[in-house]
Amino acid sequence: MAQLLITGGAGFIGSHTCLALLKEGHNLFALDNYCNSSPRSLERVSVLAGIDGRDRIKVVKGDIRNKDVLRKVFGGQDQPIDAVVHFAGLKAVGESFLYPLSYWDVNVNGTLCLLEVMKTYGCRTIVFSSSATVYGFPQKIPTSETSNVQPINPYGSTKAAVEQLLAHLADSEPGWRIACLRYFNPVGAHPSGSIGEAPIGIPNNLFPFVSQVAVGIRKELEIFGADWPTPDGTPVRDYIHVMDLAEGHCAALQALLREPPQLITTNLGSGQGYSVLQIVKSFEEATGRHIPYKITPRRQGDAAFSIADPTFAKNRLGWATKRTLLDMCRDSWVWQQLNPFGYGDQKDDDSN
Ligand SMILES: NC(=O)c1ccc[n+]([C@@H]2O[C@H](COP(=O)([O-])OP(=O)(O)OC[C@H]3O[C@@H](n4cnc5c(N)ncnc54)[C@H](O)[C@@H]3O)[C@@H](O)[C@H]2O)c1
Repeated sequence: MAQLLITGGAGFIGSHTCLALLKEGHNLFALDNYCNSSPRSLERVSVLAGIDGRDRIKVVKGDIRNKDVLRKVFGGQDQPIDAVVHFAGLKAVGESFLYPLSYWDVNVNGTLCLLEVMKTYGCRTIVFSSSATVYGFPQKIPTSETSNVQPINPYGSTKAAVEQLLAHLADSEPGWRIACLRYFNPVGAHPSGSIGEAPIGIPNNLFPFVSQVAVGIRKELEIFGADWPTPDGTPVRDYIHVMDLAEGHCAALQALLREPPQLITTNLGSGQGYSVLQIVKSFEEATGRHIPYKITPRRQGDAAFSIADPTFAKNRLGWATKRTLLDMCRDSWVWQQLNPFGYGDQKDDDSN
């Protein structure tokens, strides 16, 4: 059992991972500024974790760029923080072209602030949310961790920069235990439908968009390009159920805490690719709803294929995905039906 700081803990992946970590017996501090989430997600995590969940997860509102807040978290406890699981960040590829300064500030400078305070307090264990976007246009499909890191959008560049910073840190002094987890496309929700993906404004990701069309909040799905060099012309992605991803974090953390200090860089994906049109069809089958769509021009910064080679994660962490595409569609749909407007306190600026 460890005492953990979870940055961005109220977000989509953070909230599901908090639940998985609580179930493994860890005690948590969740730090979030709620710029893309709601405090209600963590209230629901406490309920799902059982009656003692609330005592074992302390929630702090704050920004990772604010070192005073971080110092209070690291310095204000009877027990030291053993490790950090670092989710906080901005994640929309399209938005990163419009606001590169914000992306570098939050994702890179924010991580720098966090690492400086961790070092001051002698905490040298971190699990970092990286992304398959670091591969850019991958040389080989499926893509293994030895492929070149060549991001093609500002968001991916910030993730690659943090990976590099962490590698320099690991080289600089002994004792750092670091895992860079390159997620492919996280989707789905906890099967209870209590927690799920609740983006503020127009969703950037396929699954919340499709769910909102199915439930009638949005008129139609926009598919960015049907002229890609893929079997049906729409982009192919490796989708991973968020509960599988949460369990991947538990496996990575366990390896870091039990083994000698090291840097582990691994893909977290299923190894299976689905096109956008295949997702639409599966979602229609799982929900019994028709999903109208329109084809629009390709989006800057997208690639035709993104599929993980999951071999390293399996061999190194003993972790592999268990849930199917049907589970992903069904669980997203349960969440969307029970929570058509997310956690209910998030403003939605527009609908198409
Ligand atoms: N969802 C994906 O498709 C995906 C894929 C690959 C990598 N990732 C990475 O995984 C991490 C989590 O993603 P997610 O999908 O859960 O996103 P999310 O937006 O739901 O979660 C991120 C959380 O961080 C918080 N946050 C943002 N800036 C902050 C700051 N300055 N200080 C404190 N809190 C801050 C947000 O309020 C939010 O709760 C991100 O780093 C993201 O880049 C996500």
